Formats: sequence, structure tokens, C-alpha cells
Amino acid sequence: MRRKVIAGNWKMNMLPNEAIDFINNLAPLVKDSKNEVIICVPFTDLFYTLLTVQETNIHVGAQNMHWEEKGAYTGEVSADMLKSINVEYVIIGHSERRQYFNETDETVNLKVKSALKHGLKPIVCVGETLEQKEAGKTLEVVTSQTSKALQGLTLEDISNTIVAYEPIWAIGTGKTASSDDANNSIKAIRNQIQKDFGTDDITILYGGSVKEDNARELFTMSDIDGGLVGGASLNAEKFSKIVNFD
Ligand code: PGA
Repeated sequence: MRRKVIAGNWKMNMLPNEAIDFINNLAPLVKDSKNEVIICVPFTDLFYTLLTVQETNIHVGAQNMHWEEKGAYTGEVSADMLKSINVEYVIIGHSERRQYFNETDETVNLKVKSALKHGLKPIVCVGETLEQKEAGKTLEVVTSQTSKALQGLTLEDISNTIVAYEPIWAIGTGKTASSDDANNSIKAIRNQIQKDFGTDDITILYGGSVKEDNARELFTMSDIDGGLVGGASLNAEKFSKIVNFD
């Protein structure tokens, strides 16, 4: 379902005591926001963060999971495990995982299906490299990644899924896609989902160097429903300004 969502992605940052302080600082700053607020934290912070967000409007997500339910997969965490402690969201297929941990469109699809099967809401990341952008392939790349990531989902699954368009060249670089370019890519992703599933009622976020001073311009574009925020989600005050962009 389309709604305004601002999600933080802490990546490999924040110890539990820092996570607790952050949530205690953030909660009063965003309590009146009508936008949905999600913080995606490292596995070791999940339990502490979930306890600290009780009685707030902050939702909690993980940043990865394995698609199998259980078994001999040393070091992995399953959807069932995340769900068992009340995790609500999980980022799937972030470009850093595709780049450094060999995730492919196929494994992303397996993870998305397993997350939904166990009642987690996936935040599915797609995005083009600088090379692909310069070759004029952005729309082709992101629509193909989207179709493959969501293959086999039902309409109900789609209503529980968020897509994040994150151009890889914009992540952590301080370079943001122009609001028109970001909107065009997201519109193409939305059209692809309409083609594949017969609905375009899905929340699609922009990610890549979102800051307090560019959030409003990006998030008020026709097809952009909010943001997935990395660096600027590590500071509660800065992040609250992004959440309260409107
Ligand atoms: P960034 O990261 O905001 O630091 O560019 C975004 C992301 O990777 O989700």
C-alpha cells in the first residue's frame, strides 16, 4: 500500500547502548509525524531496539536474512528467527550485499518470498551502477531487477512489500540523483509492477545520500514515497528532520 515511509539503514554501526540512546533521543522528535518511521539495525541491536521502541511510533527492521528456515548454514539468521522476536521489516538485496556477498536476483527473490511467508515485510533494494547509468541502461536494469526480485509474489504479498530504488553511485558518496531522475526511475519501477501484478499501489522509496536538505525535494515528487537513509540515519536529530520533511 502506498504511504510515506522514512527508513534508516544503520549498516554495520551502533552498539546496543548506542542504539538505545538513539531511539530514546529520536522518539520524542518524531512522535507527531504521520510518516512511517523504520530503523533497520544490526542483528545484535534488534532485541534492545525492539524493547526500546515500545510505546513509540518507531518500527524496527533487520538488514538481511537467509531464505532457508533452518539448518546447516553457519552464521545465518532465518525469517522465522527474526519474526520470533517481533521484527517487522527486513532489507533484502541491498547493493552492498549484492556487491560484497554475492547476492543475485535469484537469491534476492528467495529471500523476499521467505520473508513474506513468515510475516516479515521486505524492503527490496534495486539500483544501477555508474557504468550502467552512463550506458543509458538505468530503466532497463531497475525494471528487470524489480521483476526478478518480486517474481512469484501474490497481490497480498505486494501490499506488504516496499521497494527502494538506490542508484549505487549515489550511496554514501554525497551524490544524489536529481529529483527528476529519481522520480523517473521510480515511475518505471511502478509501471513494471503494474505490468507484472496489475497494481501500482506499492510504496517505493529513494535511497542514496538523502540528507535533511534534499529530503523534501525528493519526497514530494509524484512517485517517490519516502527514503531509505544510510549515513544520515546515524544521528537522531538529523534523521528526525528527514522524517519530518513535510
Ligand atoms: P546513504 O546510504 O544514505 O549513506 O547514501 C543509503 C543506503 O545504502 O541505504
